[in-house]
Amino acid sequence: MSIEKSKYGTTPNGDQVDSYKLKNHTGMEVDIITFGGIITAIKVPNIAGTAENVVIGFNNLEQYMQPNPYFGALIGRYGNRIANAKFSIDDIEYKLAANNGPNNLHGGPKGFHKIMWTVEATNDGENSSIKLKYISKDMEEGFPGNLTVYVTYTLQVDNTLEIVYEAITDKSTVINLTQHTYFNLSADFSKTILDHEIVIDADQFVPIDAFSIPTGKLQNVVNTPFDFRQSKIVGKEIDENHEQLTNGKGYDHCWVLNNQDQGFRFAASAYDKLSGRFLEVKTTEPGVQFYTGNFIDGTLPTRDGEKYARRTGFCLETQHYPDSPNQESFPTTLLREGEKYESKTSFTFSIK
Ligand code: BGC
Repeated sequence: MSIEKSKYGTTPNGDQVDSYKLKNHTGMEVDIITFGGIITAIKVPNIAGTAENVVIGFNNLEQYMQPNPYFGALIGRYGNRIANAKFSIDDIEYKLAANNGPNNLHGGPKGFHKIMWTVEATNDGENSSIKLKYISKDMEEGFPGNLTVYVTYTLQVDNTLEIVYEAITDKSTVINLTQHTYFNLSADFSKTILDHEIVIDADQFVPIDAFSIPTGKLQNVVNTPFDFRQSKIVGKEIDENHEQLTNGKGYDHCWVLNNQDQGFRFAASAYDKLSGRFLEVKTTEPGVQFYTGNFIDGTLPTRDGEKYARRTGFCLETQHYPDSPNQESFPTTLLREGEKYESKTSFTFSIK
């Protein structure tokens, strides 16, 4: 196992951005930059043993600094939407930026995807890891409390990328951290992900309105295009005439994962038959946002100078449900002073 550090670029503010490459002996590599904690590449072997990159990304820092749909980034303080960009804790109302129609999305315009992380520690042992740190100031992007956040990326010998999130606050706040990598297991970004086979271990999902805000109810997946309990290709029902698919412009929903009392457990998998690559996701979180890149609009450059087209990547964002701060019946995202926020997700790659 090894870690290689290199200079990646300099922000307009003069901050030096570094890139860290985690490598193992079985041919997997993960590249992470200190700007946004972005995963810029994940290389894993296909069935022929050829390691190729399977995540959407750009060639340089300048491109990552331009507006883009959170390619590879860490998301905080609150992954997904908070309705009407406001919430209350103990009868105090907090107002956030409305950066997605009337709502707040992914922590606001300068969320954790746009900030400089510092490297707290690296470990070059049997499993190589990098621990990132960020202190988000009280009322930053409208959220209360000085929040100290650690995110540790660990590449394990068995081709697992594990992500551990930790945080503490000095004042009650809300928190919902996630990772926004877009996968395309074919490693061919001229192709959509519609032929990937997906499993999501969920009997229910969170239906949304036309602004992608939860209606407050949970819906059973039985007899709907949202049933991924048995392996199914993404494209099979994605364009069916179903109100929820219209609202999401495809799949862009939070699935209510089963076995929530079991802690760290299987959540979802993806399989690309041609390359043989298989991805398994485990998490401690109650939900996973399965997003099929419906809003990727054909304007952003691929690494080969082509353009990323609609649905050329999918995300499996493990998290609490959207808008939980305003939804009494959802698992809470409240973090009180003195409590520790902890969340763990892993992405394991293999061949089938
Ligand atoms: C959301 C999408 C949003 C995307 C950002 C996803 O997590 O669910 O609605 O468009 O992030 O591009």
